[in-house]
Amino acid sequence: MKLIGPFKQIITLANLPLKGKLNDNQLEIIENGGIIVDEEKIIEVGDFELLSQNNSTIEIERIESEQILLPGFVDSHTHICFGGNRAKDFAMRLDGKTYLEIAESGGGIWSTVTQTRNKTVDELKDITLKNSVQLTKQGITTAEVKSGYALSVEGEIKMLEAINMANQETEIDLIPTFLGAHMKPKDFEGSNREYLEILIKEVFPKLKSDQLANRIDIFVEQSAFSVEEGDYYLNEAQKQGFEITIHADQFTPGGSSLATKYNALSADHLEFSGEEEVKNLANSDVVATVLPGASIGLGMQYSPARKLLDAGCCVAIASDWNPGSAPMGNLLTQASILATFEKLSMAEVLAAITFRAAKALNLADRGTIEKGKKADFISFSTLDYRNIIYYQGQLQPTHVWKNGALINQ
Ligand code: NIG
Ligand code: FE
Repeated sequence: MKLIGPFKQIITLANLPLKGKLNDNQLEIIENGGIIVDEEKIIEVGDFELLSQNNSTIEIERIESEQILLPGFVDSHTHICFGGNRAKDFAMRLDGKTYLEIAESGGGIWSTVTQTRNKTVDELKDITLKNSVQLTKQGITTAEVKSGYALSVEGEIKMLEAINMANQETEIDLIPTFLGAHMKPKDFEGSNREYLEILIKEVFPKLKSDQLANRIDIFVEQSAFSVEEGDYYLNEAQKQGFEITIHADQFTPGGSSLATKYNALSADHLEFSGEEEVKNLANSDVVATVLPGASIGLGMQYSPARKLLDAGCCVAIASDWNPGSAPMGNLLTQASILATFEKLSMAEVLAAITFRAAKALNLADRGTIEKGKKADFISFSTLDYRNIIYYQGQLQPTHVWKNGALINQ
């Protein structure tokens, strides 16, 4: 057991609603705070002096400079396991080519698939580990990682094995998701439906038997899988007890209706969600995950985060870090930029990258600083928590604790 502190401010993110809009004055701020942790869990949070007086023999991990403490960030949507690079696609977009035109001329998801298939499981593990080090530096203590860049039975299993191996070696938690349904691979001769049937028959059982992933994702879009095809696939996924998340409404609406039908954990993207889709999501428990990194990477409109919050949705923000649409991989920068365009409060941004993102991963044990939660937290060397969003990602955490242990010193 140890007492960590004192912190100038602890922003607990506790006691806030899961859904809907938030004002900054709803944030619980503990001045001159301390935190007692034991065996990876938070035991008590409160005034540092009081905690040390009441626990006179406790070991103290003293924080010498003035720091602001927050829960560790959660990035609930990434594709950080991939081979190669898509700078050529990016240059083509700058030259006015559309995502579809680029895909047709040999770029797009397929180009990453060919580059990823060439990698060994160890190489993919190393790439995932290297990217997870970047996430850790930004204060992310839990990140989801999708497969979806091999698009063959063996290749997808290799990706998931690499992600699971990386999770064993990295200090942060990596949560694997099976995204074999990213698109029908170009070398598959049958129909979309036949490709999905193979995934269901040959990959789903492996996910369970080898404990590779408990989450299923599908890209529902004209260029990938239709709503009907998604319906068929997700029905199977649900019957087999998998958690569901969907790449939805990125270029055309449709996917989010499947998210609510199957009570998915989250519907992600939502750039093209209209009034009906927003209302539908607000009437459900599906987390609406917005991905400003993809809007920045593609030069597209942002997802309607303000409307989603006003309608009463649980909104998470994730990086979507991938080599195609979102190469930046900096959640705090992206969330801060989204806030300026969508007029999000600081409380809404912080909730969206902590406990609301944890909800999208079905992880009720993290995302806030309160008794009983995981001791995952980060501190910034600054005097006011608002500076964290204000500096748009320039201010990085000086300390990162995972399961109560400092991991970046
Ligand atoms: O979330 N939209 C589909 N999938 C990824 C991009 C994949 C890629 O372009 O490599 C996304 O944006
Ligand atoms: Fe994505």
